[in-house]
Amino acid sequence: MKLLIVDCCVSQRGANSRTRRLAEAYVTAFRASHAEAEIETVPPETLLALRPFDVEMLNERDALASVRAFDAPVFGLARQFREADRIVVAAPFWDLSFPAALRTYIEHISANGLAYHYDENGCHGDCRADRLVYLTSGGDFEREDSVGVAYWRQLTAMFGIPRFDYVFAGGLDARPDTAEEILTASCALARRLAEEK
Ligand SMILES: Cc1cc2nc3c(=O)[nH]c(=O)nc-3n(C[C@H](O)[C@H](O)[C@H](O)COP(=O)(O)O)c2cc1C
Repeated sequence: MKLLIVDCCVSQRGANSRTRRLAEAYVTAFRASHAEAEIETVPPETLLALRPFDVEMLNERDALASVRAFDAPVFGLARQFREADRIVVAAPFWDLSFPAALRTYIEHISANGLAYHYDENGCHGDCRADRLVYLTSGGDFEREDSVGVAYWRQLTAMFGIPRFDYVFAGGLDARPDTAEEILTASCALARRLAEEK
């Protein structure tokens, strides 16, 4: 069993990042309940160093995909994502979704022919994971149509991962007086999700 942590906890709060607290709650509980698991992390520095795809990069990637050269470095993150058994993505709620570095990561993992493919019936996911959990914390309260959550729900389906869960610790800046309480409850939910087999 391999857990992949996509850690996009970019925060001015440093070690006090609320999103990181959610991620740590999840990972600590996961380790305790899955002692045999191997854990791989994509850290914030890796995400922030990724380049968005330009035309030249797309053409090169398509050329490699056309000869199924999926061992090329450009597919490294997509291979790692495809091969994980469980995935947790942690990112703060920024500008109604999440940091741009995570959007660039999505470009890198969304490799047609590797992470998913098309046939006459549409798109089919080819990733191994059975579950993806999205963890986020926001200054405002959660809205029903939260873009970041909806996006990761749809990506999870596109990649062929059957189950999606999320934790949204919302209203942390809107209501500083209840922020700690909300974060504590959100960490408890993250822990429960991590403990499930
Ligand atoms: C660049 C930036 C953009 C943000 N955009 C939003 C937003 O659109 N909606 C919102 O509710 N909070 C927004 N916030 C507030 C954060 O979501 C909130 O403080 C969150 O808990 C930060 O997590 P952290 O402690 O891990 O940094 C933003 C914060 C930053 C730094």
